[in-house]
Amino acid sequence: MSKPRVLIVFFSRTGTTRLLAATLGSMVSADVMEISDGTERRGALGYLRCVIDSWRKRQAAIAPPALDASQYDLVVVGTPVWAGAVASPVRAYLAENRRKFRHIAFFCSLGGRGAQAVFDEMRALSGHAPVAQCKVRASEVRHGTAAASLELFAGVLKHHLARDEALAWCC
Ligand SMILES: Cc1cc2nc3c(=O)[nH]c(=O)nc-3n(C[C@H](O)[C@H](O)[C@H](O)COP(=O)(O)O)c2cc1C
Repeated sequence: MSKPRVLIVFFSRTGTTRLLAATLGSMVSADVMEISDGTERRGALGYLRCVIDSWRKRQAAIAPPALDASQYDLVVVGTPVWAGAVASPVRAYLAENRRKFRHIAFFCSLGGRGAQAVFDEMRALSGHAPVAQCKVRASEVRHGTAAASLELFAGVLKHHLARDEALAWCC
């Protein structure tokens, strides 16, 4: 039987979610894909654009994905929290690809507040209940203490994949 295929998809403005995606990718042997967003988000004006996108629940204009979500058993989607909401490029990715997901999981990076609202929004956008979800504070990433949360998350994902594979084998 072929190995379950896992895709990690993320957006990152300042690198925190990117680092989490790369670490998780090596833990679960996944392909990793960054969402390409056409909007300038650097500096104070860029920050303001992110906040306004969140207030308006805007879907950013994103590039067509390089990897096709429908080719994967599990897609793990990561976002930074912006003003208590999903980052607008991730909002667009989830809405545009919702028919392609077989199983989905979520993670977010944040300063400290808003994870549950973000997970609820991701669930509504994707049209799927996640097999697992994980929040990691940016301060944990900076201090190098995020590994424990990620290992726990990776463990739940691997357990789900093993169970799914066993079901496919016997049924
Ligand atoms: C526009 C904007 C709004 C943010 N709003 C929140 C928030 O509501 N709650 C929170 O805990 N962190 C908030 N943050 C902090 C980010 O979620 C956090 O720094 C995250 O790790 C950044 O991820 P990145 O480096 O991948 O872009 C905000 C950051 C930005 C840029």
